[in-house]
Amino acid sequence: MLGAAGIADGFVMPAIAASGNGRLVAIASRDESRAQQVASRHGVSRVSASYEALLEDPEVEAVYIPLVNSLHKEWTLRAVAAGKHVLCEKPLGMNASEAEEMGVAAGAAGVHLMEAFMYRFHPRAKAFVASLRDPMFVHATFGFSFHDPSNYRMKKELGGGALLDVGCYTVSVARWILGEVDGVSARARGAEVDMTVSGLLHFPGGATAAVWASFESPEEQELTVVTKSGKERLERPFSSMDPDPYRLMVESFADSVMRDEPVAIPIIDSVANMKVLDLMAEAAGIGIREAT
Ligand SMILES: NC(=O)c1ccc[n+]([C@@H]2O[C@H](COP(=O)([O-])OP(=O)(O)OC[C@H]3O[C@@H](n4cnc5c(N)ncnc54)[C@H](OP(=O)(O)O)[C@@H]3O)[C@@H](O)[C@H]2O)c1
Repeated sequence: MLGAAGIADGFVMPAIAASGNGRLVAIASRDESRAQQVASRHGVSRVSASYEALLEDPEVEAVYIPLVNSLHKEWTLRAVAAGKHVLCEKPLGMNASEAEEMGVAAGAAGVHLMEAFMYRFHPRAKAFVASLRDPMFVHATFGFSFHDPSNYRMKKELGGGALLDVGCYTVSVARWILGEVDGVSARARGAEVDMTVSGLLHFPGGATAAVWASFESPEEQELTVVTKSGKERLERPFSSMDPDPYRLMVESFADSVMRDEPVAIPIIDSVANMKVLDLMAEAAGIGIREAT
């Protein structure tokens, strides 16, 4: 575990501990005492002295990267250079060119790299998408209320903003259903970071998706698809925990590593998602995120 992040502590570490094919070996954090607490909660025996030290640990075969978005590329590149497989949190990088560079590096090093889009592993989401016939319009929203100024989500240079944080899900699901985007329009509001972003994605053949992401609303998730025969809706499309999609994700990733088979979410898919996020950022006038 490269970082004692909230998502690691709350969801991914329990998922690995419960998984049938993974084992938590070590954790590293900038704050050793916090890492110590997280390690003891999840039965991890080793706290590494630094992120670098964890990458030198020969018992560690794969790392999970739940760092702030601006560090995803750097630590993925360092991990693959150390010969580790990488499960990296969403969004894969700050922009499409970072994601592409990460994929190329993993390919050259012969290790597996996957973006941790856990909702894609939920059986209900998979069944829903597989059941759709002739989808014409997707309406996808993901919002919640978030105002902590000290959190990275509120800091542009760390990859904050609603588009990268939750917009990535709405774009991902629209592409999962409708295929690749051939045009976008978008609007955003917010000062330091984009607090709310809405967009219209255009697909070949005339299908469209209306996507909306926000840090300014009560908890909000919606996935409605209009097909030629009616309207289909999936409840809580992005964070349903029945059953645990994090466990299904880490088991799938570990299976890919151990069998040396392609990961379930190929890098080409993650790069295509980031390209749409870049287009939306440009169209909305918030600018593509860059690591500083
Ligand atoms: N898949 C999901 O369901 C899901 C849900 C939430 C978040 N995420 C993703 O997971 C990642 C982490 O999100 P989170 O909510 O868990 O965030 P978080 O609790 O703030 O954790 C971020 C981690 O980044 C590290 N870090 C390094 N430099 C930092 C800096 N300058 N400021 C703050 N932290 C810094 C910290 O590691 P140290 O331990 O070394 O201090 C910290 O533990 C993000 O990429 C986010 O998009 C995914």
